[in-house]
Amino acid sequence: MQRSVLAIAVISATVYLLSLGPHLWAGSAVSDATFQALSCGTCHKPDKKGSGPTLQEIARAYVGKQEQLVRYFMGESIPLIDTGKRKTMERQLSKTRELSDEERKDLASYILSFR
Ligand code: HEC
Repeated sequence: MQRSVLAIAVISATVYLLSLGPHLWAGSAVSDATFQALSCGTCHKPDKKGSGPTLQEIARAYVGKQEQLVRYFMGESIPLIDTGKRKTMERQLSKTRELSDEERKDLASYILSFR
């Protein structure tokens, strides 16, 4: 009898914690809104090779260099990763140049969160 009461308590506590999960995440995760809106994900996957480097590779290349990533999005910094397809990405930079400073910062934080 006591055992089943304990089991029910453990199960309820687990269910409660699981239900909190999405809210906890929403608070800590950086928004991917700009990344999605500009369709950057067609070429950049979190850790699977696409047409461009993975988000993880980019995040690792830019450790401690968020400012430089923001400048890259303004077209003012040369790329750190050379895939031989610089022109492909340069076309995309016309989109990031049109963003507000705030949006470019958010985009950089989002990508850097993949490390
Ligand atoms: C058509 C495919 C494609 C799309 C869409 C695309 N990229 Fe890229 N991206 C690439 C390729 C290819 C490279 C590698 C360029 C190189 O070798 O210089 C790259 C490189 C990058 C890099 C690394 C720069 C560096 O310093 O090495 C970042 C950051 C990046 N892309 C962000 C974005 C963002 C943000 C978007 C959405 C606005 C985007 N990409 C959309 C193909 C794409």
